[in-house]
Amino acid sequence: MRQLFAPGADAILRLVLLIVAVLVVGGVLVAGGVSRSSYMYGVGVAPSQPVPFSHKHHVAELGLDCRYCHTSVETAATAGIPPTWTCMTCHSQIWTGSSMLAPVRESLANDRPLHWVRVNRLPDYVYFNHSIHVTKGIGCSSCHGAMNTMQLTYRANAFTMQFCLNCHRNPAQFIRTPDQVWNMEWSSPLDQAKLGRLLVLKNHIRPAAQLTDCSICHR
Ligand code: HEC
Ligand code: HEC
Ligand code: HEC
Ligand code: HEC
Ligand code: HEC
Repeated sequence: MRQLFAPGADAILRLVLLIVAVLVVGGVLVAGGVSRSSYMYGVGVAPSQPVPFSHKHHVAELGLDCRYCHTSVETAATAGIPPTWTCMTCHSQIWTGSSMLAPVRESLANDRPLHWVRVNRLPDYVYFNHSIHVTKGIGCSSCHGAMNTMQLTYRANAFTMQFCLNCHRNPAQFIRTPDQVWNMEWSSPLDQAKLGRLLVLKNHIRPAAQLTDCSICHR
């Protein structure tokens, strides 16, 4: 059998195998890079929760304000997840027989908090603060999308470094007047360029050179 092949065949075969291997690994890396943006971050996927809480029901249909439940969003780094009694102010009277609400009733009866699955999370080495964004005119929907339409909560955006920097380089394109911060359907008005520049001045936003400094987010 051996003489059927030229002397260098083994080496050529190995070279071909090596090239194939490089192409396969390279392909996997490229595919990985593509999916990194959304698939890897779980964008659009609602994790299953102990209770199928709907922002659509409670925000769009009942008209509850975000701050009714996320009480510290204007004052602290974290927005806060409501304790069981916030739900029970209503659900001790309405929908009291609902099986979907059984875990809420049990939580109150046993004095044990509900374990909501976190939807958005940054790695520990990234510093984030809600209050500064909200008070300086950045709306919830710029980061969390149209929460008022979500039957179950999912990530609207992958919080990559690029995502944060895209705004920190030029906040004028996203900044809003205070009343619009809570508008889940906000889209930039025609005069955003002009309005944005004014709001950036009015709210004393730091220049891009400082706002993109590594130590702002990595401290
Ligand atoms: C009646 C209470 C209530 C109101 C009102 C409410 N939320 Fe929530 N929110 C919750 C609960 C409970 C959770 C945790 C369960 C979940 O993720 O759906 C949550 C989760 C979230 C999350 C995801 C948290 C995470 O794990 O990353 C975001 C973002 C959010 N809410 C934004 C908003 C915004 C914006 C508004 C106003 C438009 C709002 N919420 C109004 C109760 C509320
Ligand atoms: C301001 C009053 C109010 C608060 C506070 C409130 N809810 Fe509700 N919830 C309602 C009403 C009213 C409905 C019925 C909505 C509908 O079906 O149109 C409802 C419906 C629900 C349902 C659907 C029940 C079913 O069987 O269809 C769930 C689940 C639920 N709420 C969970 C929660 C949780 C969890 C909290 C706390 C984070 C909460 N709610 C806070 C008023 C409230
Ligand atoms: C500039 C982007 C941005 C804006 C604006 C923003 N959030 Fe968030 N939110 C985030 C990020 C990033 C996280 C994850 C934080 C972490 O893991 O430390 C988060 C997490 C949350 C959480 C869950 C954890 C917590 O902080 O308690 C809730 C609830 C929430 N946001 C609600 C809101 C509401 C309500 C608004 C508007 C009033 C809002 N967010 C505006 C980026 C934003
Ligand atoms: C849509 C615009 C926008 C997005 C998106 C955004 N930011 Fe900001 N961020 C701002 C503005 C505006 C300020 C206020 C700057 C000032 O007051 O000088 C700010 C300030 C900050 C600060 C300074 C807080 C302090 O106490 O000094 C941190 C930290 C920060 N952002 C982190 C992040 C991270 C992390 C992300 C991504 C998950 C992010 N931001 C996404 C607009 C944005
Ligand atoms: C506005 C906020 C912000 C600023 C400013 C910022 N980063 Fe980041 N950085 C992030 C976030 C958010 C992540 C996490 C991304 C993720 O989970 O994929 C991150 C991740 C990283 C990582 C981990 C690797 C990666 O790409 O995921 C490195 C390294 C890093 N940053 C370096 C830097 C350096 C160097 C600077 C200054 C030139 C800088 N960052 C400025 C928000 C910021």
